[in-house]
Amino acid sequence: MLSFTTVLVAALLGSTAVIAAPPPPSADSDIVGKLRLAATAVDRINLLPDDKQFTFDFFDPANKPVTGAGGHLVLANSGNFPAVIGNGVAMAVGLLEACGINTPHTHPRATEVQYSVNGTISTGLITENGGRFIMTELKPGGMTLFQKGSIHFQANTGCEPALFVSSFNAEDPGVLQAGQRFLGLSPDIVAATLGDIGVEQVEGLDEIIPDSIAQGTDECLKRCGITRVKQQTTQRQPRVSGNAFPSGVTASAWPVASKY
Ligand SMILES: *[C@@H]1O[C@H](CO)[C@@H](O)[C@H](O)[C@H]1NC(C)=O
Repeated sequence: MLSFTTVLVAALLGSTAVIAAPPPPSADSDIVGKLRLAATAVDRINLLPDDKQFTFDFFDPANKPVTGAGGHLVLANSGNFPAVIGNGVAMAVGLLEACGINTPHTHPRATEVQYSVNGTISTGLITENGGRFIMTELKPGGMTLFQKGSIHFQANTGCEPALFVSSFNAEDPGVLQAGQRFLGLSPDIVAATLGDIGVEQVEGLDEIIPDSIAQGTDECLKRCGITRVKQQTTQRQPRVSGNAFPSGVTASAWPVASKY
């Protein structure tokens, strides 16, 4: 049964309801189920009779990318490339437009190794409480690693698109965008965590967090002569009763709104 709060929240959210990012197309669940239940690796091989089932084309538009104003990324995992099932690996290819950033995120189930194909990509990493911040600059041919569960980002600091390839030691590495997920917690908890900044400061904040891959720093955009555009915010955390904004709270006007 719908509670009064749920109905109220739904009414309040109304036109601004969050559209969650569409999940990547999934493989036939029947074959995934069979592969997961197979007794041996040989059984899994023989469940995939077509050689084409062992290739994945990162440039095929049918393999829907995660897209933002600063680039896009395609992931091959157990959902869209069942050949990985039982092998504990996945792979992603990302194209960062000039100044694009794959915004800070974690992979809850995998360590990542990232190879820079071209361009110059800066990466930043924090593994856990007490671990120092690690920053790298990857030239073409450079590689770095992001530990399982670490918060990390990739930023193209150049004025041309940059391509990278990432491998994961899990079939379903998962991704958790740090900004969107943190601001999707209960607003009063977020406000208190940030030093009691006030719920009105939190309200509206997630609405300005751009989808990854996002446009990057002002410094880079200026240097490359790129104008910042209004970016989509579909990756924010949907509001349910537990993380709804208290009624009567008005969002403080975030300066970004007036930038466009
Ligand atoms: C890197 O490769 C991508 C994909 O082919 C291309 O679009 C981009 O322009 C290249 N960047 C550089 C700096 O060569």
